[in-house]
Amino acid sequence: MKILVIGSGGREHALCWKLAQSPGVEVYACPGNPGMAREGTCVPGEPLDAALRVGADLTVVGPEVPLVAGVVDAFRARGLRIVGPNAEAARLEGSKIFAKDFLMQSGIPTAAYAVVEDASQARMALGRFGFPVVLKADGLAAGKGVVVAHNAAEAEAALGTLKGRLVIEEFLTGEEVSFIALCDGRDALPLAATQDHKTVFDGDRGPNTGGMGAYCDAGILSESDTRMVMDRVIYPTVEAMKFSGFLYAGLMMTADGPKVLEFNVRLGDPETQPLMHRMESDFVPALMAASEGKLAGQKLAWRAGPSVCVVMASAGYPGAYETGKEIRGVQMAEAKGATVFQAGTRTAHGRLETSGGRVLGVTASGADLPAAIAAAYEGVKHIEFEGMHYRRDIGGRGMGR
Ligand code: AMP
Ligand code: GLY
Repeated sequence: MKILVIGSGGREHALCWKLAQSPGVEVYACPGNPGMAREGTCVPGEPLDAALRVGADLTVVGPEVPLVAGVVDAFRARGLRIVGPNAEAARLEGSKIFAKDFLMQSGIPTAAYAVVEDASQARMALGRFGFPVVLKADGLAAGKGVVVAHNAAEAEAALGTLKGRLVIEEFLTGEEVSFIALCDGRDALPLAATQDHKTVFDGDRGPNTGGMGAYCDAGILSESDTRMVMDRVIYPTVEAMKFSGFLYAGLMMTADGPKVLEFNVRLGDPETQPLMHRMESDFVPALMAASEGKLAGQKLAWRAGPSVCVVMASAGYPGAYETGKEIRGVQMAEAKGATVFQAGTRTAHGRLETSGGRVLGVTASGADLPAAIAAAYEGVKHIEFEGMHYRRDIGGRGMGR
């Protein structure tokens, strides 16, 4: 069976790595990266052309941009199997305002909010919320369209950078959890809960990034909390939107129960790296079932021990950064037991080089959290590229929250 993964980042490398372990599966990636080239075949060009060319039996979409642009609709129109939401359902991620209005109308718990058209309306709304307050740009922003303002000066600065319509939102406190379910338009199968470390510096300081690391551990969410999230958040959304694909609810576990901070309509990056590392089951039957609307009865098993992914980023990320730095030590890190998922890499000048902000996701599992953390950082220790930086506290629970 041929499976095509659309995308070129660490999430997609982790997916390819997992799928390549399934018996009888040939992995293709479009466009892929040097890490994915180790798991299968990279094919350039448009995803639909690539799927037709290689004769893909199933396609899995990584990033949000093609989903929002309607890649799933295009595949289905040709009768091709694909895991992902159609463009209409992808608006849950493509527009924060659409998502908030949907949550409110569906009675799904979320932070109180106001939608404002411009800075002057925003200033009026801010008076109602007090500080801290959260300001969110409406459209896709690669994880950078959200500002938590602690005072009027920070809110004013945010209004200078966030353009267009905004959501102004009540600040919630609690433990943040990434909750992802695989859905088939009717049924939903939860993946293990993960936590993502979003800010660039240790102790949850500095600006938000796409994610500087993540871990997956049975202790993140109890079984009863998992059921609560399925009943209050996932099932109502799947039913209302006939959602298929990966539904990712960014949750705040507040004293009043789970509240949705955001929806994504895809797997998380870097959450997918520890998820794939910890998943015990063959993932292919569940993916196939999801693409056919036959998810009922599917199960996924997870290893008892947790997994941890530490992101190694380019100097300057999440701001401007340079690329083309030689990456050394990937083999050594893997020889020491870590799995190195490649994100922003390319092969050039006969060597592996940086080509993005988030470069590598060094991932490992262990018997307990300290062991998994130690194994991931043991891998990190052997890797080197000019200007690299990474957080040293990945896997620490409730850090600074
Ligand atoms: P989002 O892209 O909406 O998930 O926001 C990015 C990050 O901002 C989240 O992961 C939270 O850490 C923080 N955040 C967003 N909304 C809120 C909120 N209402 N209260 C507190 N923190 C929030
Ligand atoms: N790590 C957060 C995201 O994928 O949106």
